[in-house]
Amino acid sequence: MVKVITYGTYDLLHYGHIRLLERAKELGDYLIVGVTADDFDKTRGKINVQQSLMERVEAVKSTGIADEIIIEEYEGQKIDDIKRYDIDIFTVGSDWKGKFDYLNEYCKVIYLERTEGVSSTELRAEKCQIKMGLVGESHILEKVERECSFVNGIEIAGIYSELCDNLNLNCKKTFSDYDELLDSVDALYIISHPQKHYTQIKRALEKKKHIICESPISLSKIEAEELFKIAEENNCVLLDGIKTAYSTAFSRLLLLVKTGIIGDIVSIDATCTSLEDLSKIDYETKWNSITAWGPTALLPIFEVLGTDYIDCSIVSKVLDEKFNFDLFTKINFTYEKAVASLKVGNGVKSEGELIISGQNGYIYVPAPWWKTDYFEVRFEDSTKNKRYFYQLDGEGIRYEMIVFLKMLEKRTFNSYLDKNISLEICNIMDKFTSERFKLK
Ligand code: CTP
Repeated sequence: MVKVITYGTYDLLHYGHIRLLERAKELGDYLIVGVTADDFDKTRGKINVQQSLMERVEAVKSTGIADEIIIEEYEGQKIDDIKRYDIDIFTVGSDWKGKFDYLNEYCKVIYLERTEGVSSTELRAEKCQIKMGLVGESHILEKVERECSFVNGIEIAGIYSELCDNLNLNCKKTFSDYDELLDSVDALYIISHPQKHYTQIKRALEKKKHIICESPISLSKIEAEELFKIAEENNCVLLDGIKTAYSTAFSRLLLLVKTGIIGDIVSIDATCTSLEDLSKIDYETKWNSITAWGPTALLPIFEVLGTDYIDCSIVSKVLDEKFNFDLFTKINFTYEKAVASLKVGNGVKSEGELIISGQNGYIYVPAPWWKTDYFEVRFEDSTKNKRYFYQLDGEGIRYEMIVFLKMLEKRTFNSYLDKNISLEICNIMDKFTSERFKLK
């Protein structure tokens, strides 16, 4: 009996896949199909697969062509599988030509001609065609534009920025009128100064546009509540853009904490700083420390301990009173059973680490923790320590985009970042203005 094996993602199963499977089957008597697991796909750079592993397996099964279906979970597994299943022929489409020649050592390798004119990538792009407008003055917009190219289905259709000339963007369609931009797009990525967020988001939501806004979405909780309400009434997505929230490592870290691996949590310390030359800053466009870093530093605290704290005290070193510009801010929270603190600063440097302390051990995320791809769970007995790695591409922007697209298509809620956390972040921005203690 000649045994054949082939691998693929088989997202949105199409004619090209079926033709490949049929020809693979004809090469022998028994066909094994390896379907790639989500995590493995992510490490290969396929991040916006639409269907779950189960759906993809079911789709391959329903063709009736495969004699057996297995899951591909790790680099190098193909060698293991070929030996384990006593495979005679390994085959894939010609788009992989040469890439699997190393398997010749274990079995025969055959590249089958790829079917022209169809691919999962194209189907994903056809399924969702979003015209996105970019709003704001930050160079991060350049990264956002670049990252959109990794996500099928988003086209940058225009820019509204006071600093258009300073931004190096491929899209040259600039708008000097915000409403005109709104009339040309389906969605917005907003990273304007936080003072402008409320008005810009409200106007866009009234015109039924979907929005990703760099956190904080507003500087007051009441305004943020109003924005979420309008979004809901108009059936629009309003996504709070904290990149860290959408990264794999951070979401896995949260799950791990919830399993009780380090016991009850007693303390959380989060620090985010980036020392910058503030001598020539333009206060109209520059984000102060609390808005630039506060939402990210608040994220692990509110995710793990919730938003029902008993007390919150804010201390700041202020550079400019009129513009409310803090060089540095420290916030202490007291909860019923735990405490938390954060330090943020554009004008102070500190170690940008995250430490979550529990009664059985602690989680340590080294600097810069907000770009987490690695963390450690540490115990008194260090032989029990564990290290976790998860790839982070594009500083998390592309994962944020994918969540946004999924929310748009399926009109689901944001499973990565609860609305109450976004609202409480806005509340802290408000408290920063009204309640903070000022250092000299
Ligand atoms: N394949 C093919 N003809 C196509 C598309 C895919 O022969 N038009 C083959 C691939 O070469 C591979 C298998 O089908 O052997 C599974 O491919 P997969 O990567 O899942 O599908 P793609 O459509 O290529 O997906 P993507 O666009 O995400 O790369």
